[in-house]
Amino acid sequence: MGFLQQFDAAADPQAKAGVVVDWLRGDWRGMYAELRAERPILPTPLFTFVTRATDVLDVLEQPTLFSVRANRRTMDEAVGPFMLARDETEINWEEKGLMRAVLRWEDLPRVRALAGATAEEAIRDAAADSLDIVPAIARRVPLRIVQRIFGFMAPDERLLRWSFATQHGMFRNLPFSDEVLKRCHAAGAEMRAWLWPFLAQKWAEPPSGRNDAVSRLVDLSRQPAAGLSAERVLSNVCGLLVGSIETMSQAIIHATDQLLAHPDWLAGALAADAAGDTEAFDAHVFEALRFNPITTIQFRFAEADRVLGAGTDYETTIPAGTVLALGTGSAMFDPGLMRDPDAFDPARPPSSYLHFGLGHHECLGRHVGRVAIPEAVRRIVRFPGIRATGDATRRIDFGAGPFPEHYHVTFNGRHRASPLPAV
Ligand code: HEM
Repeated sequence: MGFLQQFDAAADPQAKAGVVVDWLRGDWRGMYAELRAERPILPTPLFTFVTRATDVLDVLEQPTLFSVRANRRTMDEAVGPFMLARDETEINWEEKGLMRAVLRWEDLPRVRALAGATAEEAIRDAAADSLDIVPAIARRVPLRIVQRIFGFMAPDERLLRWSFATQHGMFRNLPFSDEVLKRCHAAGAEMRAWLWPFLAQKWAEPPSGRNDAVSRLVDLSRQPAAGLSAERVLSNVCGLLVGSIETMSQAIIHATDQLLAHPDWLAGALAADAAGDTEAFDAHVFEALRFNPITTIQFRFAEADRVLGAGTDYETTIPAGTVLALGTGSAMFDPGLMRDPDAFDPARPPSSYLHFGLGHHECLGRHVGRVAIPEAVRRIVRFPGIRATGDATRRIDFGAGPFPEHYHVTFNGRHRASPLPAV
């Protein structure tokens, strides 16, 4: 039975919500294909789906009308007012600019080298010819980036716990759980309590000229012209952690899994690697990720009554207050955005992907992710004879939570040694 048949047959709102959640976690591509063809805009008891690329892009480009207001409930108490819970305010304008300035592109070669070295170390340390790559690589690579590139030097265990709880409570709490929200707020409070003395010490010292993002931000905040208070520094340092670890970890695992599940895609990626064509290898990774992105939805809140799909046969009035679920995962399979969308095609323009969002709230960490994710995947898929050993239908083990917890691979013999760069 298709999605719409099941959805229409469900007796009450709770049952309909259950159908939506099941399909989102299961055959989301099938569900979105039906919706794009039959009901591109579908109100459900949880939210209203928007599934065609033109409408998804239309909404993302109008942040004042379709806002991220709903994020305030989860984010404000955890990290204070933050850009991803505000639209077209000075926070968005000024702080995104300052944060971009401290996440410098000149760091990207160091980011790539660190991702590669971290993955290589895990491979060398593997006790036998098998490895659980979630803890060993996927989470450890962003963890080291947070510490050594961003300069947020808290201990491993705390960074992992804070980032998990906040990312879960802010972006993956579906269906809503009050317990998860409480854990998110508690983690935010603990993170801020840890950060205050850490930052105070930096302010107490003379400008360090250090090369990490947090030190640069602290140095910038000493300049009255930057207009950046201590509280604003704190919120933005929190945002660096919240955004990084589970997102990058999930992307590394999903892309690796797609490549391992499709030997022809993997062969293309390895051929690009063997030819030394890093750009082509990276393109295989982000195309593979399209077939299982870290999320297929961005949420928005309709600030005013508005028509979507104007002039089409599915023209729909969206009443103020509606929560929209923008199917970015659906848009990446819409032929209006992606030519021949069901084909694996690593030659697509990188700008056509929506992995890092688009427009006003486009991901701040996208350039870090764009090099760290494929570099980690590259080191993993180079294992000779690599195979995923999980259950064929559910290779990625999520435990009972929203993020990958385990992904076991086996391989034949030792990994092809690469020199470990100094980072
Ligand atoms: C280096 C690590 C990362 C950091 C520091 C980071 C940080 C952020 C921040 C601060 C925003 C909000 C920007 C704004 O409101 O203007 C954002 C948005 C976003 N990020 Fe990231 N992020 C990282 C990695 C990732 C990864 C790996 C992915 C997915 C593969 C991702 C996907 C997104 C998406 C989809 C949005 C847009 C959300 C929306 O429009 O509602 N991020 N990120």
